[in-house]
Amino acid sequence: MGLPVLPALKRQSNSGHWRIVTIILGLESSCDDTAAAIVREVSGRREILSSVVYGQTSLHADFGGVVPEIAARAHAEKMDLCVEEALAVAGLGLGEIDAIAVTSGPGLIGGVLSGVMCAKGIAAATGKPVIGVNHLAGHALTPRLTDGLRFPYLMLLVSGGHCQFLIVEAADRFTRLGGTIDDAPGEAFDKTAKLLGLPQPGGPAVEAEAASGDPKRFAFPRPLLDRPGCDMSFSGLKTALLRARDAVVAEKGGLTEQDRRDLCAGFQAAIADVLAEKSRRAIEEYGLLNASDPAFAVAGGVAANKAIRERLEELSAGHGIKFIAPPLSLCTDNAAMIAWAGIEKVNAGAIDPKDLVARPRWPLDARSPALLGSGKKGAKA
Ligand code: KG4
Ligand code: ZN
Repeated sequence: MGLPVLPALKRQSNSGHWRIVTIILGLESSCDDTAAAIVREVSGRREILSSVVYGQTSLHADFGGVVPEIAARAHAEKMDLCVEEALAVAGLGLGEIDAIAVTSGPGLIGGVLSGVMCAKGIAAATGKPVIGVNHLAGHALTPRLTDGLRFPYLMLLVSGGHCQFLIVEAADRFTRLGGTIDDAPGEAFDKTAKLLGLPQPGGPAVEAEAASGDPKRFAFPRPLLDRPGCDMSFSGLKTALLRARDAVVAEKGGLTEQDRRDLCAGFQAAIADVLAEKSRRAIEEYGLLNASDPAFAVAGGVAANKAIRERLEELSAGHGIKFIAPPLSLCTDNAAMIAWAGIEKVNAGAIDPKDLVARPRWPLDARSPALLGSGKKGAKA
């Protein structure tokens, strides 16, 4: 059976003028957040009517990472509640939605499947069409939802599961300039926190310690800076940190508060240096396109780090391009970005029923070789 086609998205306003209105319910369940949201576009104006996120951090806390089976079960249990809440907050019924957009990859396959099955269930009950969305496209298109960025813009996705530079050329066209070949930076922050006895998620805890530490006391490596291009590597940093920690413990019998702060500061400075230098190269490559309204956008949990954000902001200013960091709630995993990516696909006429197949890997840029790193948050593309 074929999928229902999208209805004509034209409605009449009270004043008698025709307006194009698109209202999409988005679903996200590719990692450890169950999310539903409703986004509306009225003649080019974008509005998030609701965005509900149920986190799973406490369910995985005892295991030192996301357990795929636990995540999938929790998504299946929570998704319908999440949808009900998103509809209630938006004050809409399912009948008023034009389509359902759902993350169909990349991610932990059990979670992706629960989202896709839920979307198909709603479609079967309501006759509404379903649009399969690439989770990374959701992140990459968010700056258009929040700031109306124009194509082509440069994007750095940097979180616990992703790290890549993309040139976003259209809703369905991305060029990857480089990415991590092993861990994502958020993962490195989380592992560092664990090694130093700090709480999870590690990023905010390490950043707080680093604020009063000496970044120069420990000499941590800046991996892959000696190689051309925008690929990155962060797994060696964690080993370097472990060695530095053990050397201090062997010498003094333990870590003082100041030792911990200095280790955090040194580690954070190394990550910031690598991201800044690789961003500089990405901006130069992007500059060759002579975009009419050039911009560099970041998304992902690590973009919350003030020290890193400031470095990237300075770098952009130095190159005379706009720097955009969407609000954190839209930088981390959420369903508003999936609903928005659905609207972008509708507008671009880029709806393909094959996109609804749930998949663990789904590179945005099929022309670039696969990035094989796969961390605690599952497969990266
Ligand atoms: O985007 P996100 O919520 O989830 C995915 O990974 O998809 O990112 C979470 C990651 C965690 O690894 C967390 O430690 C990191 O973002 N993070 C930070 C900061 N806040 C969150 N890393 C560095 N500094 C921060 N302030
Ligand atoms: Zn994500």
